Amino acid sequence: MDQPSATEREPEEPGDSEQSRGSGASRGSGGDAAASASVIDTRGLTKRYRGGQLAVDGLDLTVPVGSVFGFLGPNGSGKTTTIRMLMGLIEPTSGTARVLGRPMPRASRAVLPHVGALIEGPALYGFLSGRDNLLRYDAADPTADPRTRRARVETALDRVGLTAAAAKKARAYSLGMKQRLGLAAALLQPRKLLVLDEPTNGLDPQGMREIRSLVRELAADGTTVFLSSHLLDEIEQVCTHAAVMAQGRLITQGAVADLAAGARGLLVVTTPDTGEAARVLKEQGVADVVAAEDRVTGEPPERDLAEVNAALVAAGVRVRGFVLERASLEDAFVALTGEGFDVAG
Ligand SMILES: Nc1ncnc2c1ncn2[C@@H]1O[C@H](COP(=O)(O)OP(=O)(O)O)[C@@H](O)[C@H]1O
Ligand SMILES: [Mg+2]
Repeated sequence: MDQPSATEREPEEPGDSEQSRGSGASRGSGGDAAASASVIDTRGLTKRYRGGQLAVDGLDLTVPVGSVFGFLGPNGSGKTTTIRMLMGLIEPTSGTARVLGRPMPRASRAVLPHVGALIEGPALYGFLSGRDNLLRYDAADPTADPRTRRARVETALDRVGLTAAAAKKARAYSLGMKQRLGLAAALLQPRKLLVLDEPTNGLDPQGMREIRSLVRELAADGTTVFLSSHLLDEIEQVCTHAAVMAQGRLITQGAVADLAAGARGLLVVTTPDTGEAARVLKEQGVADVVAAEDRVTGEPPERDLAEVNAALVAAGVRVRGFVLERASLEDAFVALTGEGFDVAG
């Protein structure tokens, strides 16, 4: 795991110590009302790498307190670069980033103890056991009480389901176990914010499920979770809010339900009489009608769908299925960008 460095480049503002959820932004000259309800807030955040690559381009991101926030985008869209700026690991070229209401990277020392981070896979000592890796991480934290270290480590191991494998050398861990160990390291202390960069990358479906349920548990405990992914499906399953990135720019952000609601659902009629069904559906105002083997799909009209169904039946169409498929985040993405979500980026 990337341990965000705790170095600070400038002296802190006075009054830094009483950091509490939601109140951080009300302090200091840069604080505003909108930021006080958000744990991450960026304005025009931009990163141009030395080679000239514009990796993040004018990002305005708002992550509400208590959300499970999905930071979605194809590979190369700027997710990791953004996260590294949020964690104070690299300096933005321009723009600002506030985390827990404080400016980054300036307030890194005050902010980072409240943030657990897992960035681009955990850095582990392969020759140490999982447990010893965690003991080492904990010992590196100057705020961690050595007397309660053992208990903290055992709790974290238990939380990610690694107790049974705790004595094994980390180099013998599967990718999923390594990822969970990295998560355990991020969970050694209670956190206000967890930042997980592609936490399910390289995991099998079972491993992905485990991470998802852990994220849900943490969120239920009140931790805001910010997680990046290039998998739409994953974001839909676990996140309350999402932002979509493409080529360094923010395409949209908001509550997942609202984003998906922006796209209409799909009407799906299952029938052996596809030709007749397609004709009736068009007549009924269904748009983009497509007939496949034994089903006809289309964009539902404004009118009552019961009438549409009745019209089908009246025309002698043998209706075996008539459903309105819920719009997905993917539908929203397609509606917004006019293209599919290409994970190859
Ligand atoms: N250290 C770096 N130096 C130069 N270019 C970089 C560096 N890191 C990433 N990039 C480029 O910045 C863009 C965004 O990368 P990244 O933030 O890693 O995206 P993501 O995490 O969404 O896959 C990519 O085009 C990538 O090649
Ligand atoms: Mg990345």
